Amino acid sequence: EINFFFPVEHTLAAIKPDTLEEHRDEILEQIQNAGFSLSQIKEEKLSREMAEEFYKEHKGKPFFEQLVDYMCKGPCLMMILSKENAVQEWRSLMGPTDPTEAQKSSPDSLRGRFAKSVLENAVHGSSNQDHALEKIKFIFGDIDLNMMVHEEEDSEK
Ligand code: TYD
Repeated sequence: EINFFFPVEHTLAAIKPDTLEEHRDEILEQIQNAGFSLSQIKEEKLSREMAEEFYKEHKGKPFFEQLVDYMCKGPCLMMILSKENAVQEWRSLMGPTDPTEAQKSSPDSLRGRFAKSVLENAVHGSSNQDHALEKIKFIFGDIDLNMMVHEEEDSEK
């Protein structure tokens, strides 16, 4: 018997503070139903400095200060989601940045269901693999992602 293993990819996902309070269980259920492995999970209230670093790509944009305020107003649920093509799959489960667009094009996406505005848009996900690895390291430190996957495979036997 020949087994083909598809490369497992990891992404950094976050449920933003207001949404974590209001919709934690529904979102975790949707993540599970979409077939992601939850490799790591923790609640973390970002400091201002951490939120600024987390969104440093947007420094200087008109919405930056509001975005930082929003991200650190309570704990976020930080997760490493693992799956073949995880970065893109999580982005499509999230839906578009703007909820007006999300409700039209993908009403069942997380933002289609739960986002309140472009700013208060419920969830975060890395936009490419480099960002994913960088944000995973920033939030979870130096963890061995390959090791995690092997542990998971072993536990299924
Ligand atoms: P961006 O990286 O463009 O979107 P995404 O989260 O879909 O990758 O923007 C980062 C966050 O900044 C976004 O989730 C919400 C906030 N934001 C605003 O508040 N106003 C805006 O006009 C944009 C583009 C983003």
